[in-house]
Amino acid sequence: MFETVSSEPAEPTDIVVLDGVDKTYTGGRSVVHALQSVDLSVRSGTLLAVHGRSGSGKTTLLNVIGGLDRPDAGRVEVCGLDLVSASDAELTELRRRSVAFVFQGFGLLPMLSAAENVEVPLRLQGITERRERVEELLDVVGLGGRADHRPNELSGGEQQRVAIARALAADPQLLVADEPTGQLDSRTGAEIMKLIVAVAAERDIAVVVATHDLSIIDDADHRVELQDGHVIAELTP
Ligand SMILES: Nc1ncnc2c1ncn2[C@@H]1O[C@H](COP(=O)(O)OP(=O)(O)OP(=O)(O)O)[C@@H](O)[C@H]1O
Ligand SMILES: [Mg+2]
Repeated sequence: MFETVSSEPAEPTDIVVLDGVDKTYTGGRSVVHALQSVDLSVRSGTLLAVHGRSGSGKTTLLNVIGGLDRPDAGRVEVCGLDLVSASDAELTELRRRSVAFVFQGFGLLPMLSAAENVEVPLRLQGITERRERVEELLDVVGLGGRADHRPNELSGGEQQRVAIARALAADPQLLVADEPTGQLDSRTGAEIMKLIVAVAAERDIAVVVATHDLSIIDDADHRVELQDGHVIAELTP
């Protein structure tokens, strides 16, 4: 047998697949259908922007995709794992190894420097050679010169860059970002979105971003609009 060496790039794979996903919240007398019959998929190296008004189900969708919450019906597959039947231990492992999160409020630890914040996921993974990796990640997000600053010594945009570097530290297959630019002015927000789009493509990561403001994502590969938990439109960028 001959080994065939292909110069073709690897086939993109579906990192996220949702099929007929429902999520209902019942509290007292109120029933909220936060997600209804949602179907979608996201391939490696591509970015899906989820748009919709407040209360339309964006955070619920991202929490289901990130393994933070389970759906009531339908199929959710992330990085090859069936999240409906997965054990809690498997979900924890998925979140530690394969999925990274970026939030509106940055979520940095205030007593730690930028470099130490980026180091946290590497420590959690038991990686001992951390220093060079941290330097490289801070360079990727354009913050090489701010390694020793604490979050309160950084601007909002810089803090979000540190959060993105931290998210990349665990070498995820999927990045889930809920309103990552919500606390930033529109110009800084657009810069942060460009950075997220660039790292997704360069590192072959799948990205799902929720946003109120579609204008800051001109270069999303796919966009869906949610209304009352339904995907009402697949928008072309
Ligand atoms: N834990 C919960 N218990 C009950 N209802 C909830 C819960 N979480 C969300 N909801 C409801 O589900 C619906 C969708 O909420 P979700 O947070 O997903 O919206 P969103 O699109 O992220 O809104 P925003 O843009 O304001 O962040 C809303 O009607 C909300 O009130
Ligand atoms: Mg939300």
